[in-house]
Amino acid sequence: MTEIIIKDNLLHLRNDHISYIIYVLEGGVPAHLYFGKRVESLNPAAILRHYDLPTDGKWWPHNCALDHTPHEYPSHGLGDLREGALTIRQKDGTRSADLRVTGWEVVDGKPGIPGLPATFGDNAKTLLLHLKDELIGLEATLSYSLFDDVAGVVRSVKLHNASDAELHIERAYSLCLELPDSRYDLITLTGAWSREREMFRRPLVMGEQGVSSLKGATSLHASNMLFLARPETTEERGEAIGAALVYSGNFKASVHVDPGRNSRVFLGINDVDFGWKLAPGETFHTPEAVTVYSDSGLGGMSAQFHRVCAEHLVRGKFAKAPRPILLNNWEATYFGFNEEKLLKIARTAADVGVELFVLDDGWFGHRDSDDSSLGDWYVDTRKLPNGMRHLTDQVHAMGLKFGLWFEPEMISPKSDLYEKHPEWAIHIAGREPIQQRQQLTLDLSREDVQDYVYECVASHLREDGIDYVKWDMNRNFSNIGSALLPADQQKELPHRYMLGLYRVLEKLVNAFPDVLFESCSSGGGRFDMGMLHYMPQTWTSDNTDALCRCQIQYSTSLVFPPFAMGSHVSAVPNHQTGRITPIGTRGNVAMSGCFGYELDLNTLSAEDIETVRQQVKRVKELRNTLLYGDFHRLLSPYEGNDTAWITVSKDKSEAVFMLTRALAKSGTAPVLVKLRGLDENKVYTVLETGESYSGSELMNLGVSVRLPWGDAASVSWTLKAE
Ligand code: DGJ
Repeated sequence: MTEIIIKDNLLHLRNDHISYIIYVLEGGVPAHLYFGKRVESLNPAAILRHYDLPTDGKWWPHNCALDHTPHEYPSHGLGDLREGALTIRQKDGTRSADLRVTGWEVVDGKPGIPGLPATFGDNAKTLLLHLKDELIGLEATLSYSLFDDVAGVVRSVKLHNASDAELHIERAYSLCLELPDSRYDLITLTGAWSREREMFRRPLVMGEQGVSSLKGATSLHASNMLFLARPETTEERGEAIGAALVYSGNFKASVHVDPGRNSRVFLGINDVDFGWKLAPGETFHTPEAVTVYSDSGLGGMSAQFHRVCAEHLVRGKFAKAPRPILLNNWEATYFGFNEEKLLKIARTAADVGVELFVLDDGWFGHRDSDDSSLGDWYVDTRKLPNGMRHLTDQVHAMGLKFGLWFEPEMISPKSDLYEKHPEWAIHIAGREPIQQRQQLTLDLSREDVQDYVYECVASHLREDGIDYVKWDMNRNFSNIGSALLPADQQKELPHRYMLGLYRVLEKLVNAFPDVLFESCSSGGGRFDMGMLHYMPQTWTSDNTDALCRCQIQYSTSLVFPPFAMGSHVSAVPNHQTGRITPIGTRGNVAMSGCFGYELDLNTLSAEDIETVRQQVKRVKELRNTLLYGDFHRLLSPYEGNDTAWITVSKDKSEAVFMLTRALAKSGTAPVLVKLRGLDENKVYTVLETGESYSGSELMNLGVSVRLPWGDAASVSWTLKAE
């Protein structure tokens, strides 16, 4: 149960798992005292002494004290000379703010944030800490929500201009978290196209370190989250803290270690290419940041993030529903399809039990390659002479649902839309637009563009019997300028773009609650908690090579549960790596997510088709466990040749275990893998071998697994409790 205990200026937020403690110092400066495992009480003296602050209450004014105070929401440049979380430019051009506590409120539940994705839930309490800088008339509300079932805190900030002069926000991070030491490893996820979210772990050093994006999106290159683990922390044991941003645009995630070896963590909108004019009476909301704590290793940390995603972030009828097994035509045909070809692929898909046929890029305008037509969302009758409805009706008649690809945020210079509205592209007047993938980005900060984009998608959803949308986004920002924004607000464009996108998505998911949306961005270039609030699944990567996917899915699972990850079986040789892996391995790896196929099944041998049929049948039987069970990483592909994980149903009666070995090795014993998450008092039978083991044996001794012959060998077992 969450409770917020307030006594003698000590604000203690806690639930059964964690405590978060704020101390309002003399003078009203909110100091951060503690975030970690639940404590019954806390005497501020020890932590104040640690920071070399007076413990006798005579805190203010103390020489340079602000420079070593652990702050809740610091601003640089008055007494604190370190990097701050907030920078406000005032009418005289100076840029410091001095926020002091004016009061607080405790509210039941978790408030939303206007215009932004946010966590939700009734089993929460929220502390609203009100602050004000009297000199400049800036009011701030720091919001802290605790859910009963999450070992963590969700934070955001509201800024309000209560003065009669303009204020300019130059930086407003969502999270500042002060930690009283720096004995941590920093783990971040960075990568590239088809190599998303590689996991890097290194010790914190003095100074600044972290990851960021200025690409207008979370990006392929860095994820908007960071993790701190004690050097001795493993998957199962030790302390870990994770912070993830519920946002999809430019971000910064950093840790600053000061000379006292204390750490200050920041997470929020990147302040490069950000600014916000706050007119008198106006309010600005930061995105929210989810911070979790674990004393049971990185696995325990992921369990908290997975619960946030499952219970407090993903909405709508698909949040907990069995996701349809799909077949996507992209790698089967690329742009070269017609109705007949698509129907042939769909027919075989239906025959093996696939449930959803997805038509990817190339169905609109005159798009035979990626050089044209984005923005012209009308059917290309050269390829589909009978129109979209005719195609969807036929696919539906096969017993399949029908899905359609869009890339609504984009405009091709070669398009009718660009002829009509070149000013709708993000651009800088007088400069040659820089193209990526031969396209430009629409200026979604504009309401007319938002409305156009909404209507383009909505009209197809209304008229064409579409059950699923793949919402793609294949380039980043350049020539960052908007035709409508005045000069002193151009820096608002990247964030206004996100607000515009979220407005469109909110409208769409509300208007079409029966449509399943999957987010995509050149693969997993916008895999974040922001998009997940609108779309319950994200295409994890364009790389469908089973061995690469072991790594990508392994590290994606640090924050995201299997139900969030689109994962498909594709053809061999693999289109991204050229590697040939057995179809069984491809299936075993893809099963740990929203399962599907990305190939023309008609090209498979009879034997492989039979394997596909069995895979589809098995996923249908097990998908509740596979998608919504508890996911545990067992063997890391970042540390060796083997990847293993297990998903255990909530009642622990069923589990699916997967082990994949990259390179075959001769002369080695079978792998002995310790399983996790099972009921130690239950006896489990492995359906594939017929052997039975106690849960305690499987988790303490482990199970010995003999892999098939050859590279990329894999087993996937179903465990059933007796
Ligand atoms: C990038 C996506 O990641 C692919 O799956 C595919 O939809 C292409 N775009 C289509 O252009």
